[in-house]
Amino acid sequence: MQGPVDSASASGDSTEVAPVHTGRVVYIAVIAALGGFLFGYDSSVINGANKAVFYQFQVTDTFLQGFAVAIALLGSAVGAFVGGRLTDKYGRKKVMVTAAILFLIAGIGQAFPIGLWDFMLWRIVGGFAIGLAAVVSPMYISEVAPAHLRGRLTSLFQLAIVFGIFATQLVNQVIIGLVPDQPGAPVLNPQVPPVEANNELALGLEAWQWMFLCMVVPAVVYWVLSLSLPESPRYLVAKGKSDEAKQVLEQIYVDDVTPRLDSIEDSLKGEHKMNMADIKGPALGLLPIVWVGIILAVLQQFVGINAVFYYSNLIWSAVGFDESRAFLTSTIISAVNVIFTFVAIALIDRMGRKPLLLIGSAGMFVTLGILTIVFQTAPKCTQALIDSGGQAGCTGVSELNTPILSSSSGWIAVIMLNLYVAFFAATWGPIVWVLLGEMFPNKIRAAAMSIGVMANWVANFIVSETFPTLVGISLGLAYGLFTLGALVSFLYVLKYVKETKGVQLEDMGSLEGVELSKS
Ligand code: BGC
Repeated sequence: MQGPVDSASASGDSTEVAPVHTGRVVYIAVIAALGGFLFGYDSSVINGANKAVFYQFQVTDTFLQGFAVAIALLGSAVGAFVGGRLTDKYGRKKVMVTAAILFLIAGIGQAFPIGLWDFMLWRIVGGFAIGLAAVVSPMYISEVAPAHLRGRLTSLFQLAIVFGIFATQLVNQVIIGLVPDQPGAPVLNPQVPPVEANNELALGLEAWQWMFLCMVVPAVVYWVLSLSLPESPRYLVAKGKSDEAKQVLEQIYVDDVTPRLDSIEDSLKGEHKMNMADIKGPALGLLPIVWVGIILAVLQQFVGINAVFYYSNLIWSAVGFDESRAFLTSTIISAVNVIFTFVAIALIDRMGRKPLLLIGSAGMFVTLGILTIVFQTAPKCTQALIDSGGQAGCTGVSELNTPILSSSSGWIAVIMLNLYVAFFAATWGPIVWVLLGEMFPNKIRAAAMSIGVMANWVANFIVSETFPTLVGISLGLAYGLFTLGALVSFLYVLKYVKETKGVQLEDMGSLEGVELSKS
């Protein structure tokens, strides 16, 4: 299949629409994006399995429980940090293949842990693979995609993430549906009672083990298919393999690729070895453009998206939905997340990155603001209420201080939460990955992306670690802080983010006014 997929020209601007082998380009981007599917799967499968794991190993300490879940995020931060260096040293493709193999190992390891210590180790391995995938996939897709399609092709990475999250919800729900309702295991300690996922499902394995084992399938698919990908032409040029780079460019573009190859060569002129020193600059030790990447990555987390995902069951039961309906509500949220990512894909190369980010920030500000008011004004669960027999959403110590929502305020919360996810999915979710993949000049892309993606995971860790404590103080406070995050994100984008729609990767340096030292 060949021919241009026109978008930018339809909106009447001057973006170059080069004729491309569309089928080939989409194939390459879809396979590379599969890393996102495993990112989504591995990061959220724990939502359905955590309580069963805590029972299995009798983990009663709540700090340890939180840590066992969150430790994967630290693995991701490390994976992101080394990911850039690895992609520059060994190539984008080898890093994708490595990530796939690590996902496979992590899936099997988490399904068959000997104790909590090695369970945590496998979570770190999975997290590390996520960190690698988060650097290499958007980078690779941006480097292979023609400028006029780059936004939507890189958005496929986010689409894959949210499909991965959605798939986990479905897999977990199906698995739970297949086991007997009543936990069969004995109560050893009332603090960590057995749950349905502790019941045996098949082949002598318990439901929670199957939840992790299912990851083996996409990991193997990703592994096998990533072997069929061509290497990134930008990487090949950087390694002095211009002939190979030309062959890859010919798989993508219909026209003569010589001018493209020349401009990539120009942008990488001089002996070049990736070096963290390349991103050093005058602004607090880093180039200003690197700060823009870091701050965007952090803000993507500070609007609170993962508090919704990793803790959605907890939030919903806190506001009166029981465990079984909590599964349903989080599945609905995941579906909204998937559907609205398509909106981003449809709009990103037409409207551009900046307007969408601004719309997303404004939408999240309003929806989070309303949620804050709902939670803040609702009556709270008190010890006296629990002692007097409780009421929905206020039956145990764990619910102390949580808002008790009436059915009308509960519905407002449900609608606002879904709208909030829709705004995130159509804007900040995909666009931050698109920008991180494309906004840096060729020479510093790997190093700068590493730092940006690492910042995303550190911020994710901070939010996930502090959220339970904040909720303990007040759910309204937690949402109030996310509302503030949305406001800051609006103001920041307005002032500091430059539009990159349709700009060639080779021209990013001049767009951003980046002065690189000649190395
Ligand atoms: C974020 C993740 C998040 C996911 C949810 C991604 O863009 O980086 O932290 O879990 O979106 O949609």
